[in-house]
Amino acid sequence: MEVVNFTFSYSLLELSLHILLGNQMDTVPLANFLGFLALGSYILTLLPTILRIVFPQTKKTHIRRLLLKYRRQIGLIAFACALAHGWLLIAKRNIDFFDLDTYWVYIQGVATFIIFALLAVTSNNWSIRKLKCNWKKLHSLTYLAMFLLTWHVWDKMSAHWSFLTPIGLLELIIIISLFMRRKWLEHLPKSLPKKPVDQSLVSR
Ligand code: HEM
Repeated sequence: MEVVNFTFSYSLLELSLHILLGNQMDTVPLANFLGFLALGSYILTLLPTILRIVFPQTKKTHIRRLLLKYRRQIGLIAFACALAHGWLLIAKRNIDFFDLDTYWVYIQGVATFIIFALLAVTSNNWSIRKLKCNWKKLHSLTYLAMFLLTWHVWDKMSAHWSFLTPIGLLELIIIISLFMRRKWLEHLPKSLPKKPVDQSLVSR
């Protein structure tokens, strides 16, 4: 019943957007909306670490603490939305996974989905204990997903942007820029060489 209500409300929203936007841009089918939600939730999981390094003054803010506290749950939401997004599109386009060409056409989406699935099943204390330092290596795959998703959205939407497409791409550009800045800051020498002491100031 709730699913029917949700689909109905979504159709109403879709119709209103179609009326508002006219034919200027494609309106958004539910599958795309779910892909967009998956992208947004995924980006939220990246923010706490990136913000801590790029903007240390945000370290103690309430919003960063909340994001950190619920990072696992947000990651699971990203996975669930990605699953529903992929599922709907596979059904809509009759995508045949027995055809090897499919993997080439959907390689970015499928690869990102595999990363999301690996991260979702290992986002628990048991996996952290079992995998030890390999856990960190595995979870660093999350940064690869940023680039795969940019390719995915660009490749799949380039001929027919919806009004969500520029927002999604902008989110990706911002998070990739922050990530680059973080890497740059991490590679700076830890402490700058000390200035030579001015001997005239040293009391004898
Ligand atoms: C795991 C993560 C995934 C995420 C986060 C994701 C996200 C997105 C986003 C944000 C869009 C653009 C929506 C818009 O601008 O309106 C999109 C489009 C698309 N995605 Fe994904 N996707 C994922 C996986 C997949 C998978 C596994 C498939 C299929 C095998 C797939 C197939 C597609 C297709 C066909 C489109 C274009 C839809 C259209 O032409 O309207 N995606 N995706």
